[in-house]
Amino acid sequence: MSATLTEKYPNYSPGLEGVIAGISTISEIDSDRSSLQYRGYDVHDLAEHGSFEETAYLLIYGKLPTTAELASFKAVLSAEREVPSQVYDVLRALPKDTHPMDAIRSAFSTLAPFDPDYEAPSTDDAANVRKAVRIIAKAGTMVANGHRIRNGLEPIKPNPAHDTAENFLYLMTGQEPPAKTVQVMDASLTLYAEHGFNASTFACRVTVATLSDLYSGIVTGIGTLRGPLHGGANEEAMKMLLDIGTPDKAQAWIDDALEGKKKIMGFGHREYKKRDSRAIYLTKVAKELGIEKGDTRFGEIADILEKTMEERKNIHPNVDFPAAYAYYLLGIPIDLYTPIFVIARVSGWSAHALEQLRNNRLIRPKCIYEGAANLDYVALENR
Ligand code: CMC
Repeated sequence: MSATLTEKYPNYSPGLEGVIAGISTISEIDSDRSSLQYRGYDVHDLAEHGSFEETAYLLIYGKLPTTAELASFKAVLSAEREVPSQVYDVLRALPKDTHPMDAIRSAFSTLAPFDPDYEAPSTDDAANVRKAVRIIAKAGTMVANGHRIRNGLEPIKPNPAHDTAENFLYLMTGQEPPAKTVQVMDASLTLYAEHGFNASTFACRVTVATLSDLYSGIVTGIGTLRGPLHGGANEEAMKMLLDIGTPDKAQAWIDDALEGKKKIMGFGHREYKKRDSRAIYLTKVAKELGIEKGDTRFGEIADILEKTMEERKNIHPNVDFPAAYAYYLLGIPIDLYTPIFVIARVSGWSAHALEQLRNNRLIRPKCIYEGAANLDYVALENR
């Protein structure tokens, strides 16, 4: 923005940077301490000692579950994992090279009218909570079975004994996943579950604030998350790591990239000016995985990129950077990384939609008009 515009419109903040657009009790980002809390609980405690189901319960119901509450929540999720066959029919009709983010967006659109609470008004809080639980239950099933369908395989039925991470991995491969893989996937889902007024969550709140329905909010969120400046960065970060290939090429690669003023995917964050709190834990997990799998090349490349980015730009990795090579080491296809983000983030989007609708006001900001004015209309034949 030019100096004149800044002077003329002191209240204008491009990209809404620094603008307070709402009040929330769901999560708090503390940039100075590099900390992230969900409803007052540090995400690292939740990722290390809890489970994605505990986190999802916390986000939706506002408190950590007791043993009995968690058991009954898991039972409801298990009972709700399957999706109508019509959703699979739509996925089958998509071109084979459809990106899985487009597939999961279409899947949620298709699913909406099958929800037993479809007719409930968008302000029916109890119905919205039931919808949120169904959405959380079904997201992983649709991503995994969508992956099977594009590979010419039939969808398989969820195993009621599986939690969210295990369900996704089992359906994707058709095999019982190793315990360590489930553990890393579960922790990453917890870390991806919620993050304040990020672009997709804000977009979801804008949608439901018109009194549109929760599914429309979720579809909005998916469309917004897809871009490489947001969730799509985890896929781009992995392509970048593979492009670099080996640690001995990393320094020259990053020097060239910075010289060419390239954006380094998986680095930087609007809210964290130090380290993204989620990246700290996930980097540790990803590096441990590398050692365990005997493939430490990405951890070594990461060290060089991180050091150079910190020294030259004071920019740190965000959650998408370690998530990328953690998922790669787990054998997950790259174009499923952002859909995995969706499996987690539907819990945060739902919590925000519920919060928005409980105290709703239409979200409708202003813009500065800088175009032409008062022109004389010229008849079509005279133009
Ligand atoms: N690589 C190189 N330079 C960067 C990067 C980066 N990843 N991020 C920011 N910068 C520079 C940018 O070029 C600019 O420099 P200058 O002032 O000299 O022009 C300065 O830092 C400010 O950048 P910005 O893009 O105006 O800052 P922002 O707050 O709008 O951007 C961001 C935040 C996440 C969009 C940005 O850091 C970025 O594009 N990162 C790469 C994409 C990415 O990893 N996104 C995932 C975000 S975290 C997970 C999620 O929520 O989805």
